[in-house]
Amino acid sequence: MKTQLTTSSGTPVADDNNSISAGERGALTFNNVHLFEKLAHFNRERIPERVVHARGTGAYGTFTLEESLSDHTIADFLQESGQQTEVFVRFSTVGGGQDSSDYARDPRGFAIKFYTKEGNFDLVGNNTPVFFLNDPIKFPDFIHSQKKNPKTNTADPAAMFEFWANHPQSLHQMTILMSDRGIPLNYRHMHGFGSHTFSFWNKQGERFWIKWHFKTQQGIKTVRSEQAHEHPADGAQADLVNAIESGDFPKWTVQLQIMTEAEAQKYHINPFDVTKVWPHKDFPLKDIGTLALNRNVENYFTETEQATFAPSNFVPGIGASPDKMLQGRLFAYQDAHRYRVGVNHNQIPVNQPKCPVNHYQRDGAMAGACPVTGHANSSVNFYPNDQINEGAPVPTPAVAEPPMPIEADAHIQAYSQDKDDYFSQAGELFRLMSADQKAQLTTNIAGGLSQANQSIQQRMLTQLEQADADYAQMVKARL
Ligand code: HEM
Repeated sequence: MKTQLTTSSGTPVADDNNSISAGERGALTFNNVHLFEKLAHFNRERIPERVVHARGTGAYGTFTLEESLSDHTIADFLQESGQQTEVFVRFSTVGGGQDSSDYARDPRGFAIKFYTKEGNFDLVGNNTPVFFLNDPIKFPDFIHSQKKNPKTNTADPAAMFEFWANHPQSLHQMTILMSDRGIPLNYRHMHGFGSHTFSFWNKQGERFWIKWHFKTQQGIKTVRSEQAHEHPADGAQADLVNAIESGDFPKWTVQLQIMTEAEAQKYHINPFDVTKVWPHKDFPLKDIGTLALNRNVENYFTETEQATFAPSNFVPGIGASPDKMLQGRLFAYQDAHRYRVGVNHNQIPVNQPKCPVNHYQRDGAMAGACPVTGHANSSVNFYPNDQINEGAPVPTPAVAEPPMPIEADAHIQAYSQDKDDYFSQAGELFRLMSADQKAQLTTNIAGGLSQANQSIQQRMLTQLEQADADYAQMVKARL
């Protein structure tokens, strides 16, 4: 039996090839309602692209816990070894628009939505353990300097280095970006990191600081700068889709670093500064499970494009840390989603929690689009109310985060972190590199820096000098 073509209101369509017109050579008429609907819907097919991480690829999979974390957290999905949790993961580049290349020298986004029984936990990380900044007030300026020049609408390496020359806090991440790791071969052959420090708390109300790591089981594979142009723009996306389609499911070993509150107080590195790593010798990696991707999306737009990840999506037992960048992100993402997708974005299937959703938020654009979470019903819409015994939702005090101490003499004012040491870890990373890696790193830096003026070059060299004299010397020689 053939399927009947209809309008979006369900009416059978008589002809989808020819518009209705006044005579063979005449103009169209106003009863072309099917034509009008078709053109009008087409005009509205796009939503704004993400302001950063616009270009991405998503897939579903499973997180399997192999080591109970009940000593450290009450998070429901981290209690019993063998527990499985469905996930949606979106990989992305950062600076390019939707139709840019998968082979840009750029960090890669590694965003994971865990659909737990107590709500969605989103870990919105990158393929690098650190970030360029440690204060969110700098994020828009930084991104402006990395995206296209406002006049030429082309990449502007001089602007990138102008920003970095003025921000020693970026040196560690800039070193990673310009290194041989800067262009991953695809999304399967790279690590993922939560990057920030997060909070765990257990039944006793004890808090731990933790960092998430996802180590690729496919091995690291990268592309050298001079080879990037040989790869098709969609190469990384095609690689992931094809691997999953053929049953070659990519996997990552999931690891944690854990720090107690007491250790954090006396650790020589600020544990809440996302420009720095916690050296593994001080805080070893603990294997806790496996992340595997095993199902492609059915429709790219409805699932991957409309996926909304938010660092503020926590579950009981997991929270934020005092990391100032993370705090900024707690605001930015939900705000972006309300603008880009709409106030009821959590009703779209890819974002819908796989647990009951009960609250008193009502209405807004497209309310009721999802019969499960849409609240298109007659239930009470205010709290407190007298209908608790008939099933009206009530808060659960037991899931409250334990109080977080602040410094005894803290003052509310603008805090500069400019005087911190941003050089040691960049220098340590440089000294770990082989001769070939050092050559790639310094050639890549010189390539971009050569397009900036003398003053910027000099400020950059002064930073490199403080990290490692050879690092500065090698860049200078290549300039
Ligand atoms: C204050 C700093 C930051 C701000 C204000 C910020 C803001 C944003 C915004 C507005 C989006 C687009 C969201 C959307 O429209 O769906 C985004 C996407 C993203 N950001 Fe950030 N960001 C910051 C720092 C970071 C850091 C430090 C990381 C990683 C460690 C990161 C990783 C990502 C990822 C992976 C995505 C893409 C998520 C997806 O696949 O949909 N961002 N960011």
